[in-house]
Amino acid sequence: MWWMRRAPGGQLLLGVALLALSAGGEDQDSTAADIFVAQDGTLHINSTGRVLLNGVDIMAELSNLRAFFDEHPSVTWQKPEQNILGRFDGGVRWVATGDLDEDGFPDVLYVVLESRTAYWRRNLGDETFAAPVPMNDPSTPVLTLHVSDLDADGHLDVLGTGIANNTVLWFRNQGNGTLAAGTVIASTAGGIHLATADLNGDGHLDIIQATYRTRVLNVFLSKGQAGSFDAPRMLSGSGSCAALWAADLDEDEHVDLLTGDFDGTALVWFRNLGNGTFAPPQLISNSCGAVASAVAVDLDADGSVDVLCASYSNGTILWYRGLGGGRFSEPLLISDVLVQPTNIQVADMDKDGRLDLLATSSTNDTIVWYRQTNVGAFSQAISISDAGDRVFTLAVADLRATGNLDVLSASFNDGKVAWYRNQGDWAWRARFY
Ligand SMILES: *[C@@H]1O[C@H](CO)[C@@H](O)[C@H](O)[C@H]1NC(C)=O
Ligand SMILES: *[C@@H]1O[C@H](CO)[C@@H](O)[C@H](O)[C@H]1NC(C)=O
Ligand SMILES: *[C@@H]1O[C@H](CO)[C@@H](O)[C@H](O)[C@H]1NC(C)=O
Ligand SMILES: *[C@@H]1O[C@H](CO)[C@@H](O)[C@H](O)[C@H]1NC(C)=O
Ligand SMILES: *[C@@H]1O[C@H](CO)[C@@H](O)[C@H](O)[C@H]1NC(C)=O
Ligand SMILES: *[C@@H]1O[C@H](CO)[C@@H](O)[C@H](O)[C@H]1NC(C)=O
Repeated sequence: MWWMRRAPGGQLLLGVALLALSAGGEDQDSTAADIFVAQDGTLHINSTGRVLLNGVDIMAELSNLRAFFDEHPSVTWQKPEQNILGRFDGGVRWVATGDLDEDGFPDVLYVVLESRTAYWRRNLGDETFAAPVPMNDPSTPVLTLHVSDLDADGHLDVLGTGIANNTVLWFRNQGNGTLAAGTVIASTAGGIHLATADLNGDGHLDIIQATYRTRVLNVFLSKGQAGSFDAPRMLSGSGSCAALWAADLDEDEHVDLLTGDFDGTALVWFRNLGNGTFAPPQLISNSCGAVASAVAVDLDADGSVDVLCASYSNGTILWYRGLGGGRFSEPLLISDVLVQPTNIQVADMDKDGRLDLLATSSTNDTIVWYRQTNVGAFSQAISISDAGDRVFTLAVADLRATGNLDVLSASFNDGKVAWYRNQGDWAWRARFY
């Protein structure tokens, strides 16, 4: 039955209702469809069955196209331009973000390797950044940073640690757009990474420091007052601790610790007994080779935390699927095309509700993105940039407060801090189908 009507608002609606044909005699599919032209001239066809155009099944063809773009992401993808925030002789080791001045735009923090100095640049919200504010004194050098509200006063603080000097430094956010001078929280050798988590359930954030040369994780439990911590408890047994992640790996509501060996091959985790003491390290795998970066996150959203590692030695990104209770699957290969990856990050870059991966391929200077195209399935590497010479660290932040996550990189050989704009066109679904 065909019908037409003119809507009161002047909108022309051309409706087609194909009523279900009676079972007797007809060999066509019975289906229901709506076809209408909206005010802006757009023709809408809604069908609960197939849509044939001159006999071609349009929906099936679109689905093939979608699979093709998923499989060959570089066909129509254009790398975003590299926006350089700063260049420094002697390399940049680290980049981190956090809205320190609470203006709604994440600021950028980075560490220049040669001077071991951390800088804070306020994000002015219009793709420009204020002049760099140096954070630490040269006598307390810094290598890496961690942004966290350590004293739970509602303002993001910054923690720094450095491999040469033996310190954990705390830059308290004074809440008025300034950071206090760094106070030494602890003096322990060889720090390379920091994390914060409430390890003993007392409501206060504790600090974990991974050390490279001294090959331990130092756990500093908070005494409850701002900036006051117990002497470190040392966890060892994992070789050089070149990666660090704090997460509840066995779903017992206590934050466990993940670390990996850069000089050996062990990827291990320490189970938190609930009071900030830890069981001996448990091996997740030796198949990652030299662990450059490790992340613990529920990648496939099945309720169990998964583990990811980037192998510096053979360029693979491996995924150990969480099986629950701190057990992990055999390694699943996500990528084997990188050359000496140094960092992986996990974020939903295309806003499809699934976590994607970002990784560096430091020797061939690329930053790549693996879209999670379907639960547990990843695209080929999509190149974000090949303009950073030996990228060490990546960070992800919505720098322009548009709802789209941008990418930041710190590279060593060319000393660049750079960012890559996500215009919303990274939303694959909106671009391609
Ligand atoms: C057609 O489908 C779209 C998207 O699902 C929906 O928003 C719209 O209301 C549908 N129109 C009709 C007439 O059913
Ligand atoms: C930190 O290291 C630098 C260079 O290695 C040294 O000059 C400085 O005295 C050290 N500072 C402290 C507090 O140990
Ligand atoms: C910010 O607060 C600190 C501590 O209260 C104070 O010393 C400093 O002068 C303030 N700075 C500004 C710019 O208001
Ligand atoms: C922490 O908990 C474990 C397991 O309950 C217990 O064996 C250990 O003595 C506790 N340690 C401390 C320091 O409370
Ligand atoms: C990567 O290296 C590790 C350790 O050497 C090895 O077990 C693993 O099989 C390697 N993976 C690949 C894909 O070569
Ligand atoms: C570098 O690695 C990326 C990551 O897969 C790869 O796509 C690219 O082809 C490599 N580039 C060169 C120049 O080898």
